Amino acid sequence: MKAKTEALRTYVRLAPVIPVVTIEDARASIDLAQALVGAGLPVVEITLRTPAALDAIAAVAKAVPEAVVAAGTVLSESQIGEVVDAGAKFIVTPGTSTRLAERLSEAEIPVMPGCATVSEAMALAELGFEILKFFPASVSGGAPWLKSVQGPLPKLSFCPTGGIDPSSAPAYLSLTNVPCVGGTWVAPAEALRKGDFARIRELAAAAAALRPAT
Ligand code: 3PG
Repeated sequence: MKAKTEALRTYVRLAPVIPVVTIEDARASIDLAQALVGAGLPVVEITLRTPAALDAIAAVAKAVPEAVVAAGTVLSESQIGEVVDAGAKFIVTPGTSTRLAERLSEAEIPVMPGCATVSEAMALAELGFEILKFFPASVSGGAPWLKSVQGPLPKLSFCPTGGIDPSSAPAYLSLTNVPCVGGTWVAPAEALRKGDFARIRELAAAAAALRPAT
């Protein structure tokens, strides 16, 4: 678990934002990953919400080695092996049942499991997880929640995701327990559908330049 946690710590420190993307056509994923990497966002979470997701993860893992591709929206045990086989570098879940958390703790690759409460975070910490996704962040307490848990949960850090945009991101990034935030705003579905990678590059460059609020 220690080596996996350290690998994940490296990934979450690579950039201030992890774009969360839902891919309809796996062919677009390579251009997308190249645009994100080129703009300074090497980590991308591809959600398992479409039939194309596994192919997209595999395509990025193979064709864009500079990218760190995470498999998101992992909800079941059977998906763990599938995303490992596809070449995902780490796994992200929106929330984590007790059973899934146990299986995830045995996964071959690092996992950033989702939580939304202190008790959920504590249950995940008991299994050895130290870097958690806080989801859905904006409606579960937002940056004030994260600030409040710094005292009682000093070993944990969080990637808040859900309802975050460029205006709210700096407040999250100013917290010592937040190495990065996640969000869909960097690669909007509309831009992806149109193949508007220039727009995505622009949004990604702005996201890569985000700094903590002072
Ligand atoms: C996720 O799975 O992390 C969410 O879909 C993020 O969505 P949002 O950034 O649009 O809130």
